[in-house]
Amino acid sequence: MQKLKIAIQKSGRLNEDSLNLLKDCGISIDNGKDQLKADARNFPLEVFYLRNGDIPQYLKDGVVDCAIIGENVLVEKGQDISMKERLGFSTCRVSIAVPKESEYSNSGDLNGKRIATSYPETVKTYLKKNNIEADIHIINGSVEIAPNIGLADAICDIVSSGSTLFKNNLKEVEVLMKSEAVLAVSPSITSEISTILDKLQFRIASVLKGKN
Ligand code: PRP
Ligand code: MG
Repeated sequence: MQKLKIAIQKSGRLNEDSLNLLKDCGISIDNGKDQLKADARNFPLEVFYLRNGDIPQYLKDGVVDCAIIGENVLVEKGQDISMKERLGFSTCRVSIAVPKESEYSNSGDLNGKRIATSYPETVKTYLKKNNIEADIHIINGSVEIAPNIGLADAICDIVSSGSTLFKNNLKEVEVLMKSEAVLAVSPSITSEISTILDKLQFRIASVLKGKN
């Protein structure tokens, strides 16, 4: 029998909640922390532990059939991938922040500024929509340090508790999007796999319903 291949985050904030959701769905996974792939014992499912940013490409290529992923990553990198279900956990915002002491009244103040971010496409779309010309500097992690080391005037990154902004003396000035974990599906999923996905989705929906 075929198995549904699902990608979840290898490490990071979605990893634990994603595994818990599968567990709540009654699916037990042979867990090995260092394993990149694990089989479910009682459901036709194979779990792939992948890097967040790589998941949209794996979905596009059909290497995995579906994924639990942050909506923010999907918007940034996965334009042609469809979202099946909002999962209600790992909520965050994708926001622009500037140094606390800097004067900021509206988005026009970003004109001519340097913005450091791991979300270049999301920022580009926002700037274009608001007719702002600014330079984007792509950084893959620890983005909040950029203004403090003179690399940028502003940053755009995910904000959850706000503690990283606070620690780096930054203030959130624009919210570009609100995000949460979602179930995303590959465009090249077969009908047999689709039947298994429907079963998983049914269980997920029941779990989410029970939580509300
Ligand atoms: C993420 C994100 C922010 C922070 C937001 O970074 O890039 O920096 O979390 O969360 P908070 O508002 O609760 O502080 P993460 O720690 O995952 O590491 P990374 O930036 O190196 O990927
Ligand atoms: Mg960070």
